[in-house]
Amino acid sequence: MDNHDHGHQPVLLAETITILNIEESRTVVDCTTGRGGHAQAIGARLGPSGNLICIDTDDRNLQYAKERLTSLPCHRRFFHANFSQLQDVLRATEISGVDAILADLGVSTNQITTGDYGLSFSNESHLDMRLDQRSHTTAAHLINRMTESDLADMLFRNADERYSRRIARTIIERRKAKPIESTGELAQIVRSAVKGAPREGIDSATRTFQALRMEVNHELPALSALLSAVATIRQPGMRIAIISFHSGEDRLVKQAMRQWQADGMGNVLTKKPVTPSDAEIYANPRSRSAKLRGFEFAVGTALTTGTPQ
Ligand SMILES: C[S@@+](CC[C@H](N)C(=O)[O-])C[C@H]1O[C@@H](n2cnc3c(N)ncnc32)[C@H](O)[C@@H]1O
Repeated sequence: MDNHDHGHQPVLLAETITILNIEESRTVVDCTTGRGGHAQAIGARLGPSGNLICIDTDDRNLQYAKERLTSLPCHRRFFHANFSQLQDVLRATEISGVDAILADLGVSTNQITTGDYGLSFSNESHLDMRLDQRSHTTAAHLINRMTESDLADMLFRNADERYSRRIARTIIERRKAKPIESTGELAQIVRSAVKGAPREGIDSATRTFQALRMEVNHELPALSALLSAVATIRQPGMRIAIISFHSGEDRLVKQAMRQWQADGMGNVLTKKPVTPSDAEIYANPRSRSAKLRGFEFAVGTALTTGTPQ
């Protein structure tokens, strides 16, 4: 591993640390450890009696982070798991209370830029897109098996693709001749489907790739499950920060936090989402669509069900 090049500065790092109120001895869960950027900065503030619980659905990233974080002073545990299984992970740690939870959603730059994941049309590779290699359904499975209407609905639901019907029709036509197997083939099919249609300055295949990745990895259902799990394990003073890069995700986070507040569970810490400064966007263009929202729980879950004394 190269000890100096871990990619960009983690997105909205200082703002995330402030929202999570990271101090010595706390217990923090990083639900999306990635290559360990946020975890490194958070772990350094926890001191020798702090606990850092690191989760990622991609074991390749998790192993990289585990090696990177060896010199942190705090206790560290690593779990190759989906964050939708947060409660199972916490049961396995036998740690009784969590002070802060971070989720920095989506994919990391290395997952996009290396061909291994089949996430990008810039690299010709197998149409895979699984972040967790234990799961069975690849993007090629979906593209070659979904019905035309399911494909169109999925493109619209996950990525607001306005040409979803045209793209779905062209995919169905083209796969009759032979299965669609590679990122390059799919990109070319999508481009041919929307040829001549006005686009907003991005490659015509971008939204299709995003929508498929979200479907393969069940990203919106996993986020909903995480939000329910967080409300279930809440305890007074526990904080959560979520960084999203997609309007569908941000909507789920905003609605959940508003509902928690309306139900008297605590307070939204970000009236509006926190977004990166111009300087951060300049240094890391991928941060430009990031939105950070935070919440502090004031009321905990009732842990006992016995008769009050
Ligand atoms: C944007 S990156 C996180 C980067 C990290 N904060 C850093 O500073 O290095 C998102 C990570 O979340 C992981 N991920 C995505 N969905 C997940 C899920 N449902 N459960 C667990 N990890 C997930 C991805 O594999 C990826 O490593």
